[in-house]
Amino acid sequence: MSNSDDRYPPVSPMPVHVGMIMDGNGRWARRRGLPRLAGHRAGVENLRRVLRAAVELGIPIVTLYAFSSENWQRPAEEVQGLLNILREALEKEVGELHKNGVQLRHIGDLTPLSDDLKKQIQAAVELTRHNDRLIANIAFNYGGRQEIVEAVRKIVRAGVPPEAVTEALINEHLYTAGIPDVDLIIRTSGEMRISNFLIWQGAYAEYYITSVYWPDFDKDELYAALKAFSQRDRRYGGLNT
Ligand code: IPE
Ligand code: IPE
Ligand code: MG
Repeated sequence: MSNSDDRYPPVSPMPVHVGMIMDGNGRWARRRGLPRLAGHRAGVENLRRVLRAAVELGIPIVTLYAFSSENWQRPAEEVQGLLNILREALEKEVGELHKNGVQLRHIGDLTPLSDDLKKQIQAAVELTRHNDRLIANIAFNYGGRQEIVEAVRKIVRAGVPPEAVTEALINEHLYTAGIPDVDLIIRTSGEMRISNFLIWQGAYAEYYITSVYWPDFDKDELYAALKAFSQRDRRYGGLNT
């Protein structure tokens, strides 16, 4: 399948880099009288469908917010469940994603994860590193502030003189080094906040918020977000005449 599908005529301009705050799994489950973890499972299932839709619609880069540096504050049972779901998803899905040309990357801090999970993530990144149909950054244990702190630490450790600290240098020390700034940030489930996601890279991102819960966010919804983006007037502080 390609984006020549009649229902999804190409939009212009297309965002190069789309961030997704995959929110609302818990509420999706509660509405069905299910435990929160059932919502997270449905969320991962949906991620598979959304990645396929992203390939079909021709989006080059996506960054998916899966677990924030603040999500450790949730009950231990939910945190453990989310780690298990990540492990299972890697076991089940990486082969297929690789076949479909998806390049998986991780952004965030792997330190607190178990050695097994770290190895599994590194193996998935290594296996898919030459794929070029879609770059999918998985933000797991990611926080925008923590990312900036890490970048500053690396710069200070390298003994860089203050005058040499530039926006470009900071960019090069973020987890997203080499990846263009995010153009469009989609948040599901209606919350109008950024929750520490790509706070540096999203300085001039366009935002799209839908009330749909993440497990129900489908290709039509994604396409609607792309269409809305294509109609925005991005000015970057200047004037478009
Ligand atoms: C998003 O869904 C997934 C994670 C934050 C891990 P939530 O778990 O935040 O779902 P709600 O916001 O409680 O509905
Ligand atoms: C943001 O959602 C993090 C992810 C989607 C992974 P949260 O549900 O954690 O955000 P808040 O707590 O509503 O701001
Ligand atoms: Mg939430």
